Amino acid sequence: MRAACVAAKRLGRRLGFVPTMGALHDGHLSLVRAARADCDVVAASIFVNPTQFGPNEDLAKYPRPFERDCNLLEAEKVDLLFAPSAEEMYPAGAATFVHVEGMSERLCGKSRPGHFRGVTTVVAKLFNVIDPDRAYFGQKDAAQAAIIRKMVRDLCFRTEIVVGAIVREANGLAMSSRNVYLIPQERKQALVLYRALLRVQKNFDEGEREVAKLRGSGANVFKSEPQVQMDYVEIVHPQTLEPVENLSEGALVAVAAKVGTTRLIDNIVLPATK
Ligand code: PAJ
Repeated sequence: MRAACVAAKRLGRRLGFVPTMGALHDGHLSLVRAARADCDVVAASIFVNPTQFGPNEDLAKYPRPFERDCNLLEAEKVDLLFAPSAEEMYPAGAATFVHVEGMSERLCGKSRPGHFRGVTTVVAKLFNVIDPDRAYFGQKDAAQAAIIRKMVRDLCFRTEIVVGAIVREANGLAMSSRNVYLIPQERKQALVLYRALLRVQKNFDEGEREVAKLRGSGANVFKSEPQVQMDYVEIVHPQTLEPVENLSEGALVAVAAKVGTTRLIDNIVLPATK
């Protein structure tokens, strides 16, 4: 993969990279299309990264429709696909990790200890192999994107990070590889995440500027789906992920909840009001 990427970058050709865990949907493909539009050569990776899964999470059952994914990437004219084995990415005895302190313990980092450390470790390794000019991440995982931007700054990676908008189903549900776990009834219940975000958005649009009230209004919406177990509704600074008191600089409203056994996340960004 390294040799192919070095060859691809020769003569100043721009290399774009889209890291994924596969089970591709239109959210992933929107990033591939953005890379295709911006770059001369497009690389993607499919790797279900064990270090970002907790001991009781869904690593073993995570969907791996590899042939289908390959066909989708080929149809989008991806030039290079990197799909390493776990042994290849983590040789026996691997003991080096990349940990963005502080930010990695916020939002999903609270209920998924070690998750973001696994993400930054594998993304750093992928960047070392591929050394892309640009890498594409989704706003769907807003905290992940912010943490990776921070890692890139802190560790002097040369890669420019591009963040693509959230792609949703027609009913508003944010696309996710984990949506395949949802039975029809849960698919309906899962809409409560976006409904909560829309409620916060509406109250904000109507002039509410008190963070606690906005959060509370979002959390209240979860009461309409008692089967769904809310993890958090948080309003944080989009770059630092720290809780904000003042909304004048804009803010990230992030939610996480369990629908049945499936953990889902979603978010919106409130604009700066200065
Ligand atoms: P995965 O969940 O497969 O997502 C790959 C990329 O697709 C991420 O940047 C994610 O934010 C983006 N994405 C997922 N759903 C999206 C949606 N509905 N709209 C827009 N973009 C969406 O995120 C990971 O994999 C892993 O953590 C990874 C970065 C590959 C490291 O292992």
